[in-house]
Amino acid sequence: MQKLVVLISGTGSNLRALLEASEDAEFPARVVAIGADREADGLLLGEEFGIPTFTVPFTAYPDRDAWGAALIEQVRQWEPDLVILSGLMRLVPPAVVDAFSPHLINTHPAYLPEFPGAHGVRDALAAGVEQTGASLIVVDNSVDGGPIIAQERVPVLPDDTESTLHDRIKPVERRLLIQAVLDIANSHLDLKELSRS
Ligand code: GAR
Repeated sequence: MQKLVVLISGTGSNLRALLEASEDAEFPARVVAIGADREADGLLLGEEFGIPTFTVPFTAYPDRDAWGAALIEQVRQWEPDLVILSGLMRLVPPAVVDAFSPHLINTHPAYLPEFPGAHGVRDALAAGVEQTGASLIVVDNSVDGGPIIAQERVPVLPDDTESTLHDRIKPVERRLLIQAVLDIANSHLDLKELSRS
């Protein structure tokens, strides 16, 4: 059974999908802890699903490195096989990458390398593209430039707003994430191998 720690900043709707998937006894992974960098709404899912939560508030530390060190300490306690950034809206410092990558993965609401960063959906809309997408990547020291695990195109519709487009991207992200967790757990996907190639 693979142990997952999921880190969030927001509502955690992708996290919810993972928690629901892992209620199936056949699912080969379990979320052992949910962490956040702020008082994120998604932390309530911990109560709902009976999963421990922790918060490492970014603003409580003097700098990103100090925050990262505290985050590493919290995450390590759970001895995860995989750490998932599922809407964690912070760049993690190099020490976090060193501690967990390549078993540190991130969902992103665009077809990377297009539209990296904190506003993937807004930037795609502003660029006027006809299609964007969803990506799942290994986290490295770049901004959303790590090895791509999976990605899929999502069309942009003429009357899309940031919110309607994001709502259509998220189910794709969920599917990619759950499939990747399955593939990793069943040894059909080797993140070390992917990161070497
Ligand atoms: C997801 O779309 C995720 O890809 C994105 O935040 C959303 C979180 O939604 N992450 C990033 O943009 C990271 N750069 P959720 O809290 O409802 O799961």
